[in-house]
Amino acid sequence: MAAHQRLMNMMFGTICSQVVGTAARLGLADHLGDDEIGYQKLAARTGTHPGALARLLRALAALEIVVETRPGTFRLGEAGMPLRTDRPDSQAAAVLLFTDPALLDSWKLTEEAVRTGQPTFEGLYGTDFFSFLATQPELSQRFNATMRQVSLPIAHLVPVSYDFTRYRTVIDIGGGDGTLLSQILRGARALRGVVFDSPTGVAEALSTLTAAGVADRCRIEAGDFFAAVPEGGDIYVLKNILHDWDDERCAIILERCREAMPAGGRLLIVESVLPDVVDTSDPAPYLTDISMLVNMGGQERTRYEYEQLCRRAGFAVTAVHPTVFPTSYSLIEATPV
Ligand SMILES: C[S@@+](CC[C@H](N)C(=O)[O-])C[C@H]1O[C@@H](n2cnc3c(N)ncnc32)[C@H](O)[C@@H]1O
Repeated sequence: MAAHQRLMNMMFGTICSQVVGTAARLGLADHLGDDEIGYQKLAARTGTHPGALARLLRALAALEIVVETRPGTFRLGEAGMPLRTDRPDSQAAAVLLFTDPALLDSWKLTEEAVRTGQPTFEGLYGTDFFSFLATQPELSQRFNATMRQVSLPIAHLVPVSYDFTRYRTVIDIGGGDGTLLSQILRGARALRGVVFDSPTGVAEALSTLTAAGVADRCRIEAGDFFAAVPEGGDIYVLKNILHDWDDERCAIILERCREAMPAGGRLLIVESVLPDVVDTSDPAPYLTDISMLVNMGGQERTRYEYEQLCRRAGFAVTAVHPTVFPTSYSLIEATPV
């Protein structure tokens, strides 16, 4: 593709995101289901302006989210299937979250974030992202659903990439609704687990752990990982936690883990680890990194940067395991020194 065309397509990314986000908000994928439907009928079902909806559907067809089977009639395309909320691989909550005004507002000030190195979310909302979530039950539920949807593929890879059967108790710090812990416990029948997160973070954990059939081997605990984390684990897992925070706050979380674990305990950091030199085959981790800058004040890190973080909090990295199927994720194992 010519350079100028690639650049223009990137500029249009923001419009694509609004088109897909609007489709999700209108529930178009659920309305279409397995059917072919004319735009007028869809407009009646969604309470939208027929002409405007026809134009949205044409844009969605151009993006291959839907297919125009004959003039004015549409069915769901392959790329649109994950917008259905009834599928196990649904990404609908993630689309709704990432196009939510609260997250989009910060992007208007990206230049400011790059000039100052500070997240713009806090300036706009007067608090950090997770404290804000605690005051927004609907958004918090959507965040938890998003984490479940985006974490599920990695949650399946973690227990096959790392041997948990040698441990007795795994504690998932910031474990959200227990999606990862469920997979770990399913793969190690004698293992017990604790899912630890904020009160809003663990709100859906019982139903996830029950559905996975591991609730009887699991405890759910709410708290603040900057204050204290549960004691008694021989392995503490942190998946997509450290990338939310700056080095100072990461060091506090890691120190709380070190205080809670026995001598010889293990830390397992599960994160997308940036290569030392940019890998252009997958822009996702670099874009997530900017999202962390703007919304959270966190960052994606290289292996060396994780090693430095661990050292600062009194841990030494003992091994780095890539996931068994290639992803940007690695499992960084560390032990107290
Ligand atoms: C990016 S999510 C990761 C969730 C889960 N580990 C995963 O990978 O799917 C970050 C998690 O940290 C939790 N969290 C944020 N601040 C916290 C705090 N102060 N104490 C405990 N948990 C917190 C959030 O509720 C959220 O579940």
